[in-house]
Amino acid sequence: MRIKYTAPLRGELSIPGDKSVSHRSVMFGALAEGTTEVTNFLTGADCLSTIACFRQMGIDISLETDSSDSTAKSAPSPATDRQPGGRVRIHGKGLHGLTAPKNVLDAGNSGTTVRLLSGILAGQMFDSCLTGDASIQKRPMKRIMTPLQAMGADITSMHGNGCAPLSIHGTRLHGAHYDSPVASAQVKSCILLAGLYADGMTSVTEPALSRNHSELMLRYFGADVRTDQSSSSTDQTLSEKKLPTVFISPEPTLTARSIHVPGDISSAAYFIAAALLVPGSELLLKNVGINPTRDGMLRVCRAMGADITLLNEDYSGAEPCADLLVRSSSLKAVEIGGDLIPTLIDELPILAVLAAFADGTTIIRDAAELHVKESDRIAVMTENLTRIGCPVEATPDGMIITGGKSLHGAVIDPHKDHRVGMSFSIAALASDGEMEIQDADCVNISYPGFFEDLEAVCR
Ligand code: S3P
Repeated sequence: MRIKYTAPLRGELSIPGDKSVSHRSVMFGALAEGTTEVTNFLTGADCLSTIACFRQMGIDISLETDSSDSTAKSAPSPATDRQPGGRVRIHGKGLHGLTAPKNVLDAGNSGTTVRLLSGILAGQMFDSCLTGDASIQKRPMKRIMTPLQAMGADITSMHGNGCAPLSIHGTRLHGAHYDSPVASAQVKSCILLAGLYADGMTSVTEPALSRNHSELMLRYFGADVRTDQSSSSTDQTLSEKKLPTVFISPEPTLTARSIHVPGDISSAAYFIAAALLVPGSELLLKNVGINPTRDGMLRVCRAMGADITLLNEDYSGAEPCADLLVRSSSLKAVEIGGDLIPTLIDELPILAVLAAFADGTTIIRDAAELHVKESDRIAVMTENLTRIGCPVEATPDGMIITGGKSLHGAVIDPHKDHRVGMSFSIAALASDGEMEIQDADCVNISYPGFFEDLEAVCR
């Protein structure tokens, strides 16, 4: 895919559904009794992997997409009532309704699918095997195997390297408390889901609050889930600071609900960045999830001098959402670190691009988790920012990026990482010359239609 600057971004855009919420709607819907109806479901490859896994375990799931749907609209056409995204119906069979899969479960590129599903599979009365693509088979799974094993789970890495494929012998689980060394919603959610099948209360303490979609949605389906922000950590090294702990009671009856998935702030992030960077832009992003455990990008952009206004603040089920009006702004460097990191972990690639065009030196720290995402995002962002002429230094837990120079087009290798591919597509709009994004179809993992939407608002 070749991209170069064409025109300021104008008009409005409905952002596709949130990936994390879409995954969870299928998983929890499958474990609920009755039919869960989901609208604005993200039809990206990752969420389709989750659907495929649950179908293999006997869950009837229908997916309709409106092929006539183009989510992008150019100015000045007003928003319509048309429902973008997929409509999914999950015919749940209750907590104990899954059946043994006949084949290996394939999570594709999706870490959320592998890690959350492992928590569910650990407590089933059948055996299963779970794997994914080449990237998934390199990502760390010990972070879920350790707490699951502490709950009595029989889960092993089949190649003995702490990665997928995972072999899971389903068994009765014990309630336990786990002090997680990482602020990871995938780890936390895995433990909470295993906790549904335990013989007592399960709890998990994180070093900082990660996204809380599982807690909100499980409660919405009827589970007894409670978050205590005032530290009950048993680990003295984690003490002093008030640490969030989530508790879940076992064996709830989950009841099917309707869910309208808010737009994904992690997908909106590319269009926020584009509108900020390209002079003369004014873009309205409709129905974006602004859950405070996910909105760090907005906070950082504002600290950089961004002109972003929240309009029509509302709720989509338990999830807060709003329209975002973004106007081009001149940006200055910032420092990004600490407890903010989990609230913008997936936005760090596009924030690194913003930093490359901002005045001054931006420091990203406390983000070592970037090494173990779909690619090593510290290495891959550093490699590609260097290609476009940006002075950047990789550090063990982040990057130091000196912005403000004029940057140029280059051949970008996103290492098949969707978020890197989209980040440099946006960098193209503010760089001289043309950017060539290799393997650009990797964007379909989280944002099918990304390039069409970009073209639609750059006219
Ligand atoms: C996700 C949690 C985050 C995030 C990922 C989606 C989720 O991962 O990076 O894209 O849906 O729970 P970690 O939990 O590993 O930080």
